[in-house]
Amino acid sequence: MKYLIETWGCQMNDHDSEKLAGLLAKEGFEAAAGVGDADVVILNTCSIREKAVNKVYSELGRLREEKLRRPLLVGVTGCLAQQEKEGLFRRAPQIDFVMGTMAIQQLPRLVEEARAGRTRVIDTGEYPDNHLFPPETALRHSTAKALVTIIEGCNHACTYCVVPTTRGPERHRPWKDVVAEVRDLVEMGYREVELLGQNVNSYMGGCTFAQLLDRVAEVDGLEWIRFTTSHPMNFTRELARTLVTNPKVAPFLHLPVQSGSDAVLRRMRREYTIDQYLERLGYLEAGRDRLCLSTDFIVGFPGETEADFEATMALLERVRYDASFSFIYSPRPGTPALRLQDDLPAQEKSDRLARLQARQVELTLASNRRMVGRTVPARVESRGAVEGGHWLARTGEWKNVHLAAGEGRRLPFGELVNVRITDAGPHFLKAEIA
Ligand code: 5AD
Ligand code: SF4
Repeated sequence: MKYLIETWGCQMNDHDSEKLAGLLAKEGFEAAAGVGDADVVILNTCSIREKAVNKVYSELGRLREEKLRRPLLVGVTGCLAQQEKEGLFRRAPQIDFVMGTMAIQQLPRLVEEARAGRTRVIDTGEYPDNHLFPPETALRHSTAKALVTIIEGCNHACTYCVVPTTRGPERHRPWKDVVAEVRDLVEMGYREVELLGQNVNSYMGGCTFAQLLDRVAEVDGLEWIRFTTSHPMNFTRELARTLVTNPKVAPFLHLPVQSGSDAVLRRMRREYTIDQYLERLGYLEAGRDRLCLSTDFIVGFPGETEADFEATMALLERVRYDASFSFIYSPRPGTPALRLQDDLPAQEKSDRLARLQARQVELTLASNRRMVGRTVPARVESRGAVEGGHWLARTGEWKNVHLAAGEGRRLPFGELVNVRITDAGPHFLKAEIA
């Protein structure tokens, strides 16, 4: 039996796919090269925006054709599965099984039942020990960085967001389990980990998140720790201090702000004003200068006026984010924001998004140019030269590097090398071995 897992969405979902792959491997399944030679295809889905959902339905359409030609099991997991539950079978009868985000250890049983000929197999239950996943099971993609879950779910209630429904309330993994998993990963050869959660900085698995970072940093042989994602209201002075002083914590912070307007933030139920957000950034003090800072924006939230949007642009100027990810508001089923009147024309929303993104490209370019001439460590992330003749690497600040290795020279995959930045574009730095 061969399986294929297709993944949409965030790192949390990427890592869930690694766990699903590990569970299937344990049952003797092999990875398929493509849909064509798979006996079971699993769509690990995202429902954060409508676009992500549409992609899943169009893939389901393709799989229906495939199923007409030959025996094939189709499963849907992830956030769309958790959200739609049985409804998915009505919408797409070609689905054989559905599994929610809080039941992933049930996968082998669900596949077995579907193989035995049961139809519409489903488990979207909430298993309280879902986050206590046996660490050795995940079949990680062989990348230079290992993903490690520390917390699942979210206790905030942003009015636009599906995550509280799709991922449930917070469950924290005990810090000792996290440290033990990181130790195992380093033994396997990983030098970098990314701690994952919908809201990592509300961590309470026996210590604070800042303490967890310090404890993970004590693992010998580990070089960099990253984490994603953080809520501004859980960003403490203690965490800011750890971030700027612990040399193993990579100099990068993603702190989603969503909007520069207090009125919009209130309707989003983000729990902070812009002053409070800026105060928290201030916790970084002088350390701010050695970090790269990124954020998320939602543009065109219901009721967003031109003045609200200008406030977002003003915030962008004030903070000068090194990078940002911005999206047009997408109404999601079951969220409180659906009740807000949304009468802004679609064209106006995309114009605002384009303005914001155009300015961000300039800011990112300026941020990248500031690195030209510096020599910094970067992790080798390709196993050879890619198209264009350079190797891929990544700095601690999470910047992509196109690295000229020199004729015939091979670089060690996953290891840090010192590189001298020679040039910068908006999307990558050019560098050579220092
Ligand atoms: N519409 C648009 N963007 C959204 N995000 C979350 N929910 C929505 C939505 N309904 C964005 C937020 C979040 C990022 C992961 O996705 O900016 O930080
Ligand atoms: Fe998408 Fe959010 Fe689910 Fe991640 S947690 S897969 S971003 S809906």
